[in-house]
Order: sequence, then structure tokens, then C-alpha cells
Amino acid sequence: MQHNYGFFEEDQLGSLGDAALWGRILKLVRPQLRNIILAIILSLAVIAANLTLPWLVRLAIDKYIMAAHLSAGARLLGLENIALVFIVMVIGGFAANFFQVTVLEYSGQYIMHGLRQRLLAHLLSLDVTFFNNNPVGKLVTRLTNDIQNLHEMFTSVITTVFNDILQLSAILIILFYMNRHLALLMCALLPLIIIHSLSFSRMARKAFRKIRTQLAIINSFMQESLTGISLIQHFLREADTEKQFRRQNRIFQRQTMYQIKIFGIFLPIIEVISTLAIALIIWIGGREVMKGTTTIGELAAFLSYMRLFFKPIREVAQKYSIVQSAMASAERIFELLDRQSAISTAGNLRLPNLRGGIRFAGVSLAYRQGESIISDFNLNIVPGEQLAIVGPTGAGKTSIVNLLERLYEPRAGEIFIDDHPLADFDLAWLRGCIGLVMQDVLLMSATLRDNLIFGSSADENRLRAVVRDSQLEMVVRDLPQGLDTMVGEGGWQLSQGQKQLLALGRVMLRDPRILILDEATANIDSITEALLEKAVAHTIRNRTSIVIAHRLSTIRNAQRIVVLSRGRIREEGSYDELLERGGLFARLIELQQARKEVELSDPV
Ligand SMILES: Nc1ncnc2c1ncn2[C@@H]1O[C@H](COP(=O)(O)OP(=O)(O)O)[C@@H](O)[C@H]1O
Ligand SMILES: [Mg+2]
Repeated sequence: MQHNYGFFEEDQLGSLGDAALWGRILKLVRPQLRNIILAIILSLAVIAANLTLPWLVRLAIDKYIMAAHLSAGARLLGLENIALVFIVMVIGGFAANFFQVTVLEYSGQYIMHGLRQRLLAHLLSLDVTFFNNNPVGKLVTRLTNDIQNLHEMFTSVITTVFNDILQLSAILIILFYMNRHLALLMCALLPLIIIHSLSFSRMARKAFRKIRTQLAIINSFMQESLTGISLIQHFLREADTEKQFRRQNRIFQRQTMYQIKIFGIFLPIIEVISTLAIALIIWIGGREVMKGTTTIGELAAFLSYMRLFFKPIREVAQKYSIVQSAMASAERIFELLDRQSAISTAGNLRLPNLRGGIRFAGVSLAYRQGESIISDFNLNIVPGEQLAIVGPTGAGKTSIVNLLERLYEPRAGEIFIDDHPLADFDLAWLRGCIGLVMQDVLLMSATLRDNLIFGSSADENRLRAVVRDSQLEMVVRDLPQGLDTMVGEGGWQLSQGQKQLLALGRVMLRDPRILILDEATANIDSITEALLEKAVAHTIRNRTSIVIAHRLSTIRNAQRIVVLSRGRIREEGSYDELLERGGLFARLIELQQARKEVELSDPV
């Protein structure tokens, strides 16, 4: 088992000064500009409501509570009014805050929804090589995290820039306006708080990152162990697996404890510093009140503003690192979106009367630099021909199918269908003209009917006909709800042979001009094989067909057999011709017959 899940480049930090990147982020955000402006206006209202409150306290104290020269009635009336305004402000601020968060969250979700959709659509268009190089698990984790990071940044940057920074500046202005002396004193403490907040948020972020990575490892480990449970039990690996898991689990525990310690120590320190600052202001400000240079109301308001002041500082520091990792995420997302498929989809040729002639002219293929899987491959298949390809495992048989399906581009040479270069065809249309049955059959967890139809537009009559012709009738008869039985994961379990019949039926429903069977009969019993052969014989009538098989009995009826070895054609001819020649093919037949004799003489 391998445990490099590729989570480790997840949390690199991006650069904040990348103008091109910001440009692209803004472009994502633009469709929601109206809502964002609304959110900003609402947050201005929230700030205004917040900042009015200490001012009201000051008014209440200085104008009424301490105003001995006014009558008691007038003072009470004034206080009542102020209390009323206070309540209105609190409720107003609450409402504005609610709408602001909702609008912003809505926009954020909307933007991320669009981005997610775009990313998936783009991924679906990429070539198979991309997925060979980027394991699916890693892609999914990356994308989920990256989108989450962007979302976090989107909502927090806007609140940071337009709430916190604005609120901070407004409070500073008010403080200096109220009492320059005390304001300066408080500013002297600022660097201490800022530095502390920054280093705290950096440490917290790093701890979180480690925990997340470790959690991913633990999850993958669990998933892998449970998926491979029969293997583990078969090879008695339980104790060993448990030991491995204990190690990872302990690392996770240590990292979690570290994070808890950071929070336990550093978060209260900020609290302590800001409380000390308040004590300092009470001490100095109190003396000024006694001297008469400051009023009690002013001091009370000053202290309230200070409380409002320290919280945003902490948040700005935290959001700074959110933005950093979101920039790295954005970079990765755009990189992915910029990646073009290696398979061009520029062609738009559709031939309504495709005859199904196939010609390989000097085709070579390499999956990686330096290797050569297929080299100088020449083959002409006339329309309607029934061709078989045989050859040892790894000879390149499936690779030829991959080329024909345009999953990979040849490194040299060209492939023609009905004398048109493959690249001229509309890719989706072309793939629709080629029916492919493979060794592994992908089942959706849906009814047998849906698995057969699988997006084609066939009607019920056609479906019945196909069920009959592809020998599926026997299978359907044995199922509890016939065609409507749920199959696939969590449903009725079909045997390998039954799945093959289903795959054949699925292809027949589409009535493709060209039919390819790639080792479709590889691991099924001889009874189903006989059924499948019958179905195939029916299916390949009037079509160009390529049957790849290593069980050589299945290709006896092919018009022509091509023997492939190491990406080259070694022999070519009819079954009897090849046998007569006494070459590679004859040897393969001999080997298989010998094996069959062993099987027969050794009854179980
Ligand atoms: N997607 C791929 N990436 C890299 N190498 C591949 C890929 N598919 C097949 N190969 C290699 O190409 C060779 C031919 O494979 P394939 O065409 O599947 O053989 P066959 O179908 O005849 O058994 C093998 O050596 C295999 O390892
Ligand atoms: Mg193969």
C-alpha cells in the first residue's frame, strides 16, 4: 500500500501581489457585483450602528446623568430618549448584519457553484493522459479544498476590507477626535498586539494545515484498508494494518494537542494585552477626569471604543493568512482551467452514411517519452470486415483501440475512417459510431433497463429486440423484477458473463457502424461464452468489427486475423492459413490446446 496521496502541496501560500491573478478572481466575482455592493452598503450600516452606541453612552453620562443643573424630569426624559435610540440602533445593526451576511453568503455560494460546475465540465473535456498523471482521489481532494479556500476568502476578504478596516479607521478617528492624548497612548500598544496576532494566526494556520493533511492520510488509510478488507484478511494483515494505523493515529493526536496548546496559550494572551491596555487607560484617563480635562462620559465611551477596536485587529491578522492560502488555491484552479485537452476537438465532420472502413497508416504511439508501444502500424480494414486481433498481453491491442477512440493521439502516422483523417470528425459523433465492449463492465447502481439504455434514445420495442438478440432474455427472466431490477452497487449482483451480455446489449442499442470487443470474453464460463458468441455473431453482421481475444476459439469465424506482438503485426491471414504457416499464431493455439487438455484430464 502506498501512502503518498498528494495532499502535501495542498496548502502552499500564494503571493498577494499577483495582479494577473487578482484580475481573474475579480472576473469570477463580477457577475455578483450588485450583491457585493449591497453587502458593502449594509456593512456600512452595521458599522454606523456599532459606533453610535459608545457615543450614546457618552451623551447619556455627560449630558444627563452628570448634569446636576437640569431638573430631574428633564434628565429622565433625556435618558429615556437615548435608551430608545440605543435600542433602535441595536436592532437596526442586528438586522443590517443579518442581511449583509445572507447577501454575501448567497453571492459566495453562487460564485462557487458556477466555478465548481465549470471545473467539472472542464475536467470532463480533458484527455485521458491528464488523468493518468493526476490520480482522481488527489484531484477531488484538491478541488474540494481549493474551492472551499476561495469561498472562505471571498466572504472574509470582503468583510475584512469593508468591515474591519473601515471600522478600525473610523474608531481611530473618533478616538483622536475625543481625546488625542489617550488615543496616542493606546496607539503605542498597537504594534505589540498586531505582531502577536500575526504570529498567532500564522502558527494556528500551520497547525491546522498539519492536522488537515494528517486527517486526509488517516481517512485514506481507513478507506483503503476497508476496501481491501478481503485481501487483508486473506493474507492475515490485520495486526500489521492496525499497527500502521496506530502510528498515523498517534501523529494525528499529537498534532491536535499542539493546536489546542497554541489556542490555549496565545489566544488568552491577546485578551490579556487588550485588558491591560484598558487598565492603563482607566488609570491615566481616570486622572484626567479628576483633573477635569476629560469627562466621565468621554472615558466610558473611550473604553467601549477600545473594546470594539481590538477584535477587528485580531480578525484582520487571521484573514491575512486565509487570503494567502486562497491565492495559492486560485492559482491552481486557474491552472487547471487553462489546461487544454491534448486531443483537439476542432473537427466537425459527420458522415450520415458511414461505411466503416478503417485504415492505419504508419501509426506509432508512445504513452511516455522514449518508449514505443506501437510502431509503424499499418492496417486496412474494409467496411463490413470481421477482423480479429490476437497477441500476448501487453502487445498493444488495447492501445490500438485507444487510438481509434482518440483517447490518445498517435505520435506519428495517421488513422482514417472512410478515408477521412480521424481528427476531421466531430469527436463525440465519432465515438458514438464506435461501439466498445471491454473486459470490465461499468455498472451504474440503477435498474437493468437504465443500465442498458444508458443515455441512448431507444424505445421499448427496440429495447425488447436488443434484449432478445444479445441473449439477455435468460438473464432478465431470472431477475426478481425483470428489466426493472436494481443492479450495480447495492443491487442485484450480476455475474461477469451477465455483465458482458449487458455491455453488448448496451452497445447494440446504439447501433454503431463499428463494433470493437476488447477481451470481452476473457473471464467468463463456457456456457455464457457460447451465449455471448451467439450474440456477437448476430451483432457483427453488417458492421465493421474488431474482436480482440486471447481465447482463440472465439475468433475462429473471423475473416482475417492479425497477430500482434510488441506493437507490430507479425502475421496476418485466416485461421487456417495461420495454422498452416506454423508461426506465432500456431504456437499460441498449440499452447492453449495443451492447457485445455490438462483442464479436461483433471476433473474437479
Ligand atoms: N495509459 C497507459 N499509460 C502508460 N502505459 C500504458 C498505458 N496503457 C497501456 N500501457 C502500456 O502499453 C503496453 C501495451 O498495453 P495494451 O495496449 O493495454 O496491451 P494489450 O491490450 O495488448 O494487453 C503495455 O506495456 C502497457 O504497460
Ligand atoms: Mg488489452
